[in-house]
Amino acid sequence: MWFRSAVVGSGPTRPEPCGAVNSPDRLAAPEESRSEAEPSEVRHPDPGLFALPIASVPEPTVNDSLEAAIQRELSGLKSADLHRAFRKVEARAGANVIVDGKAAVDFSSNDYLGLAGHPELAHAVKAAMDADALGAAASRNLAGNHPLHEELELQLARMKGAEASLLFTSGYAANIGAIPAFAGKRDVIYSDSLNHASIIDGCRLSRAEVRTFPHADTSALAQLLRGDEGKYRRRIIAVEGVYSMDGDLCPLDRVVSLARKFDGWIYLDDAHGTGVLGATGGGTAEHWNLQDDVDITVGTLGKALGVSGAFIAGPQILREFLLNRARSSIFTTASPSALAAGVLAALQVATAQPWRRERLWANVRQLREGLAELGRGTAAGSPGHIVPVIIGEARPTAEVANRLLERGFLVGGIRPPTVPPGGSRLRITVSAAHSSDQIAALLSALADTLPPAPG
Ligand SMILES: Cc1ncc(COP(=O)(O)O)c(C=O)c1O
Repeated sequence: MWFRSAVVGSGPTRPEPCGAVNSPDRLAAPEESRSEAEPSEVRHPDPGLFALPIASVPEPTVNDSLEAAIQRELSGLKSADLHRAFRKVEARAGANVIVDGKAAVDFSSNDYLGLAGHPELAHAVKAAMDADALGAAASRNLAGNHPLHEELELQLARMKGAEASLLFTSGYAANIGAIPAFAGKRDVIYSDSLNHASIIDGCRLSRAEVRTFPHADTSALAQLLRGDEGKYRRRIIAVEGVYSMDGDLCPLDRVVSLARKFDGWIYLDDAHGTGVLGATGGGTAEHWNLQDDVDITVGTLGKALGVSGAFIAGPQILREFLLNRARSSIFTTASPSALAAGVLAALQVATAQPWRRERLWANVRQLREGLAELGRGTAAGSPGHIVPVIIGEARPTAEVANRLLERGFLVGGIRPPTVPPGGSRLRITVSAAHSSDQIAALLSALADTLPPAPG
């Protein structure tokens, strides 16, 4: 499917600028953020995702000192309840963590298969470090390419039903490197309004026209594709397999038929589906039985596979192209080969222990049924392992998360800019490492702490 013929047309007619709008140059850290693009022709259901409620920040003055500028930004964030600070997670064993000195059950991480602390992974990493240096010492183009990197790339390609893959040091690096490699000024990217920050940033770096369509709205996508016929050299549809904050699945069947009809390439970021969805854990495309229909697939290694890093899978020629063209691959030190050994071990454990995925789905069912009993049925079309519980405003969201931590549950309280203003939520992530008792205990703590559902 890759390299389907490009859109035929009379050359790149650039329409009025209407792609993703740059945010004001704020110092605010985007954390695990996504979703800040402005709509292009089709309006987002969420008005102005840039419109963060930090109106209390006074206008900058010309002669501001660095310290004063930073202070102003930080106090604006604090007064809008959007200020962030790290918690210390000092130890992890399965789903149990010590956070800021206190024991808690972790319902906030992306360790969906419970592999992050698995001893086999640690043994593999130690063995690799005994056999060779920890540091790769250079980029892969120079002295940093190790046989373990290539072995892992083959295994990951196999997992995705692809010919080849290329490793990246993170999912963020994959998106900001690959998207500009595929798309440039004469091209257009159709981007789901809930795409992750790294996809949005990759789109911006590419300088392609960006057209944001309302989340999962394939009618709006079709409308944009139809209206753009003949205007661009390449058309790329960028979607996620499982949306990171809402937990719903991309309607990949409909996206594939539109891509076929309008000659677009599909760029699928499957950070959260990889290892989890599909008959063998191959991910979202396997779930839909559409593995041969997706042109470019991103998978991450720091979520279900428990380590860190990412990869892009596709034909051999895609790998060759990316290692020549993706700047975040070319201009960076290779990740330690021991991490590749750790991911290889994770793949082995995941394959040998299919009960992990079965346990995960049983846990998801228990949590979702329990939430429905509490009157907090989750967003429509959201059957996955990421379970949002919408609170609304930022302050009560942070307060509920703090109260849950006092009760021994670490649950993500997600606020803007990660989600739109008014869409603050608990993001509960389920893992195979959770026991049924832990989920029941979380549900009982939620029953005591959740404010009434927003109207
Ligand atoms: C959809 C999506 N893509 C990419 C990333 C970035 O992956 P990484 O954490 O490996 O940088 C994330 C992280 O949460 C994500 O949710």
